[in-house]
Amino acid sequence: MACLSSSQLQKFQEDGFLVLEGFLSAEECAAMQQSIGQIVAKMDVPLHCRTVFTTKEEEQKRAQGNTDYFLSSGDKIRFFFEKGVFDEEGNFLVPPEKSINKIGHVLPHQDATFLYTEPLGRLLGVWIALEDATLENGCLWFIPGSHTSGVSRRMVRNPAGSTPGTCFQGSEPARDNSLFVPTPVRRGALVLIHGEVVHKSEQNFSDSSRHVYTFHLMEASGTVWSPENWLQPTAELPFPLLYT
Ligand code: FE2
Repeated sequence: MACLSSSQLQKFQEDGFLVLEGFLSAEECAAMQQSIGQIVAKMDVPLHCRTVFTTKEEEQKRAQGNTDYFLSSGDKIRFFFEKGVFDEEGNFLVPPEKSINKIGHVLPHQDATFLYTEPLGRLLGVWIALEDATLENGCLWFIPGSHTSGVSRRMVRNPAGSTPGTCFQGSEPARDNSLFVPTPVRRGALVLIHGEVVHKSEQNFSDSSRHVYTFHLMEASGTVWSPENWLQPTAELPFPLLYT
């Protein structure tokens, strides 16, 4: 596999993100989408994680169920949905295989808000478009150069057994929308995302899905993964090492 050129590396260091078009072939994208399709076909979401309850007590039970489902999702395949996917009894309002098509809408954030390390600057997001990501279906938007001013907000775990399971410390500063630059990419493109760069994606109001495969890498040497992060490695599945 090719390495980054020095001008690509410089661009990443300046902007806090970098687009690499043509990282995967169309065939590789199709194969990944097929695998995802198989996982979704076998999708089994516990009823207490998708029902909209009405009483307060039931609401709390649901919140706790969702909290456990979320906090223990690190080493499992778990499914998260946007509003409007379920009816009041927890039945899918759209075919389950279509229910994930609208996922991906994220408010402006830094990944380090959720995945905090000490020191900062050790986290790298990898975002691979399995379909064209356009202005209409929810491509990424970045504030170039925003990765150099620290982390304004953190999501931390509450004591075990509390509801909600996590809370925020600090707040997102108001940011001028005009600072965001859209980053539409073609199918197969890979986008590198610095852990502290501010980015977002808009809601997908189009008819076309925008499937992506995304994960994070951390430079583990000399880095402390915050024990307050929602995501924690487990004995069954420690964070896999890429190299030692
Ligand atoms: Fe992100």
